[in-house]
Amino acid sequence: MNNSIMYNFSDKLKDKFINELFEFIKIPSISADSKYTKEVHKTALWVEKALKKVGCNKTKIFKTKGHPIVFGEQIIDPKLKTVLVYGHYDVQPPDPIELWDSNPFDPIIKKTTLHPEGAIFGRGSCDDKGQVFMHFKALELMNLNGLLNCNVKFMIEGEEEVGSDNLELFVKKNKNLLKNDIILISDTSIISNVQPSITTGLRGLSYMEVLVEGAKRDLHSGLYGGAVLNPIHVLTKMISKLHDSDNKITIPRFYEEVIPIRKKDREKISLIPFNLNNYKSELNINEVSGEIGYSTLERSSIRPTLDVNGIWGGYTGEGAKTIIPSKAHAKISMRLVPNQNWKKISKGFEDHFKNLAPKGVKVTVKTHHGAAPFTSPLGSAGYTAAKKAYTKSFGVEPIDQKDGGSIPIVPVFEEILNSRVILMGFGLNSDAIHSPNEHFGLFNFFKGIETIILFYKYYSEKNKN
Ligand code: BES
Ligand code: MN
Ligand code: MN
Repeated sequence: MNNSIMYNFSDKLKDKFINELFEFIKIPSISADSKYTKEVHKTALWVEKALKKVGCNKTKIFKTKGHPIVFGEQIIDPKLKTVLVYGHYDVQPPDPIELWDSNPFDPIIKKTTLHPEGAIFGRGSCDDKGQVFMHFKALELMNLNGLLNCNVKFMIEGEEEVGSDNLELFVKKNKNLLKNDIILISDTSIISNVQPSITTGLRGLSYMEVLVEGAKRDLHSGLYGGAVLNPIHVLTKMISKLHDSDNKITIPRFYEEVIPIRKKDREKISLIPFNLNNYKSELNINEVSGEIGYSTLERSSIRPTLDVNGIWGGYTGEGAKTIIPSKAHAKISMRLVPNQNWKKISKGFEDHFKNLAPKGVKVTVKTHHGAAPFTSPLGSAGYTAAKKAYTKSFGVEPIDQKDGGSIPIVPVFEEILNSRVILMGFGLNSDAIHSPNEHFGLFNFFKGIETIILFYKYYSEKNKN
């Protein structure tokens, strides 16, 4: 086998790959905003074309109630193993747009402290267009160099950032089409560019929206102020009661199913390289904060949390306007850990939140979406191949790490398709996904391609039928 293409990408090849990825990033596939539906569809077509170009002999765009799902496959021999690659071509809205140093949909390369070789700045560069594209290019290179030794399928969806609501039904209805031996996903982080990691768990999610209503219309605060409830005051008081003084969540039975942290897991987490001062200075904060009794890494990976994502109501325009608003709104999400059931948690939140309301306001609670937590077993064939691949490409053995984020379809995959998921991400937590100035290191992009090719090599070597 000729290894040389893996370790030395020529400048010409690098430029070609980067320019292609730029094209992908330039299409604003914002799934949450219906003004961008056309762009989302355009992106699906782009993905299909890209899949054809890298070797897929069968591709199809599936319509859903929401955004389309792009499928592609290259079957070289039905007797060989099949890898299913999952990812998403949709991106988060770029807001607040004024905080970007460059246009989110006109990617550019800039150097940063953590990316001295340069990083691609643009919405979706890391989450998840750049990481999806590594898989396309890995297949292209394997085909070019006669390295492919198994079958490959791709399922790239357009609704991950809004909860993957239509994907579960699609997976259930297309079990045969999606049949595989292993599912490979690059949509998570590594610890650093000198310390790779394999993501062995994801948190679940319950996403809620609440509305507190007072009087039937906004009122003159001089005429009515002090005499009736102000829904914004009520909402903020209710929110402040969602955590106690130890920063534990006050929803009854919220922690009932949570497994207490085991000594051995705690030790494992404490061995992960982590520098609190760097963490604080990267975020420009002087203090960290969270549930009493847990470290920062524990709080952000294996403990459940509750956060207000947005709050609005009343007058927020220019100048001053004296009113008691009629309504106050907030979006509140909870990250969940193994054994917590998001439907049960959402119901528990609703009951608790309504109980916190004083007489005199009307409270409405809506569940947006949810996701189950995920833990991957160690030691499977896919896990072993991933570990070998990272070790070879980075020259350092990867550490197992649970990530705090969520990918809703992952637990569903294991249940419906009955195959293992390997989370082989290449982003850094500091790459600002979902934030202004999202970026993806060039090192990470090319190292990712190399690692993926090695994964295929080790996985198909071990698993020849
Ligand atoms: N790729 C992220 C999830 C992620 C990032 C996991 C880094 C681990 C490390 C994904 O696109 C995402 O943002 N998921 C959402 C969930 C969704 C329902 C909106 C999340 O975690 O908030
Ligand atoms: Mn993602
Ligand atoms: Mn995301």
